[in-house]
Amino acid sequence: MQAALLLCMLGSVLVEANVFSWGGRRETLRNNIENVCLTDQASCGCCLMQQQIHKMETFFNMSLSELEKELTKTKAALDNVRGSRSAFSVALNNDNHLNCYGTFRDDKLVIYKHVFINLGGGYNVETGVFTVPRSGVYSLALTVYSDAGSPGNTLAACASLQVNDMVVAGPTDHNMQDQEDSATIVMALHLMAGDQVAVNLPVGCFLCDNKSHYNTFSGFLLYATD
Ligand SMILES: *[C@@H]1O[C@H](CO)[C@@H](O)[C@H](O)[C@H]1NC(C)=O
Ligand SMILES: *[C@@H]1O[C@H](CO)[C@@H](O)[C@H](O)[C@H]1NC(C)=O
Repeated sequence: MQAALLLCMLGSVLVEANVFSWGGRRETLRNNIENVCLTDQASCGCCLMQQQIHKMETFFNMSLSELEKELTKTKAALDNVRGSRSAFSVALNNDNHLNCYGTFRDDKLVIYKHVFINLGGGYNVETGVFTVPRSGVYSLALTVYSDAGSPGNTLAACASLQVNDMVVAGPTDHNMQDQEDSATIVMALHLMAGDQVAVNLPVGCFLCDNKSHYNTFSGFLLYATD
């Protein structure tokens, strides 16, 4: 009887050692405890306690592995969000004096030289084209401005927002009496990865800008759809 009690107490010590150790000795310790319980079930009340501890450990293990699974999923989702960040905002130039772009003999893409932000690198400052990095709903905004120099001179602030060479929207403002014109469009579009978004300057139109950044072209991903 005393020997059994001793064994049992030894068992409970072993359980404690087991709870706090995650090493390779666990199995041997576990076997010892089970042996104690098997050989002296009736006299050893603390075997019940050991069983409770074992249950708790199982529960703890299950909760832990559930949490680990959730954490892995959350990390993957966060990486996805981080990886698909896309936002650009550019202006025609950053010159001290008002400089005009156009008119040209053919339609020409507007190359916005001044970059405020180009998160994800989708906008190409050499070509003026924004290549959609990831399918999703994008917010796009375009503001055009032109200045005839003096009242009465020809003025045509026009340009069109295009996706893959197709016109999506065209803000336009031709002068009557005033010497300056400006127009803006803002829209949400569902775009596919690889789509090419750009601003086309039709024949006869021209845009003027300086550090005031009257001509801006912006776009950002609202949410991804793939
Ligand atoms: C708890 O998890 C450890 C490590 O994965 C494992 O070795 C042990 O057998 C588990 N215990 C229970 C009671 O399931
Ligand atoms: C840009 O040009 C306009 C029109 O000539 C002028 O009124 C404005 O002050 C200029 N902006 C800057 C920052 O020089």
